[in-house]
Amino acid sequence: MSTPQLADPKLTQAAVFLVLTLNSDTSVNPQVLNLLGDISSLVRGVGFRISDGRLSCVTGIGSQAWDQLFGAPRPKDLHPFREINGVHHAPATPGDLLFHIRASQMDLCFELATALVARLEGAASVVDEVHGFKYFDARDLLGFVDGTENPSGQVATNATIIGEEDPNFAGGSYVIVQKYLHDIKKWDAIPTEVQEHIIGRKKVSDIELPEAAKPSYAHNVLTNIEENGEQLQIVRENMPFGTISKGEFGTYFIGYARSPARTEQMLQNMFIGKPPGNYDRLLDVSTAVTGSLFFTPTCEFLDAAPDMEGQAQPAAPAPQPPPRDKQDGSLGIGSLKS
Ligand code: HEM
Repeated sequence: MSTPQLADPKLTQAAVFLVLTLNSDTSVNPQVLNLLGDISSLVRGVGFRISDGRLSCVTGIGSQAWDQLFGAPRPKDLHPFREINGVHHAPATPGDLLFHIRASQMDLCFELATALVARLEGAASVVDEVHGFKYFDARDLLGFVDGTENPSGQVATNATIIGEEDPNFAGGSYVIVQKYLHDIKKWDAIPTEVQEHIIGRKKVSDIELPEAAKPSYAHNVLTNIEENGEQLQIVRENMPFGTISKGEFGTYFIGYARSPARTEQMLQNMFIGKPPGNYDRLLDVSTAVTGSLFFTPTCEFLDAAPDMEGQAQPAAPAPQPPPRDKQDGSLGIGSLKS
């Protein structure tokens, strides 16, 4: 049996996003593997205290950490996040473990996050922590509703869950996270009608602009990708976050897909442009400050993690990113087929 971790894709009121790096000394492996095996129990323990609190945690494992903890076999498309140098810059930042914690209230997220980090003391360090909140009717801090075109039900499953293309890892998924900081003053100075062209939807009503009214650089044009006439979708669980006193207004982007190539293609279209130069104007007011890619194994895989201690076979090295001068709009990673 294989149970995907991504069971309930519905947006919650609260989320905590934790990215950690592992101490690269393999002596920490048993501690980390033991925690991975206990996550489902920790979620049950914390979550039961508020039974309708919908507490969940999706755990992601980065490319280097996979080799350190599990070795071969490895998920076939797992690699470090690929930096993009286009009109705008998408940096690659360190990340060995991701905890994407969601609940209907922050206390549940906070309690679970605290318990997870305590169990990793001495073995891993938190390198990024974001507390996200639902903003009115699921808007981002730019004022637009975010998540409308997310697939649901079977379509979401088909978009996110690995199947026969990688039988050893069927039921798993890939996830890319990026933390964006917005220049809210600059955005607010842009007339609403121009903002609507940048996003491709009406601001108040959230209704999609007619195709003929969307510029070729609209966010929902550049992120709408197809292969053989079929749309290749991802599932996004973005959340706003911020610290008023620091002037920090952000969107935490998190996109799940059965192949990272989908999300990577969207990023290429946004940062380099399609065609090159026709980039996403959202990026003129949004700076990506982090970028990491993780594999999320099935629940059964995580539960069995403690038994894998010492069984890791060395893995073949992960595919390396293309050299920078090859970043001309083509990904250089072959077919997008998932
Ligand atoms: C600054 C960060 C971002 C913000 C504020 C943002 C906001 C939005 C908004 C308001 C929409 C329209 C409503 C909806 O369908 O959800 C949207 C759509 C979408 N976004 Fe983003 N987004 C961001 C980054 C990204 C990134 C990095 C990706 C992918 C790599 C992405 C992929 C998509 C997709 C696939 C859609 C649906 C397009 C469609 O088929 O209509 N977004 N986003």
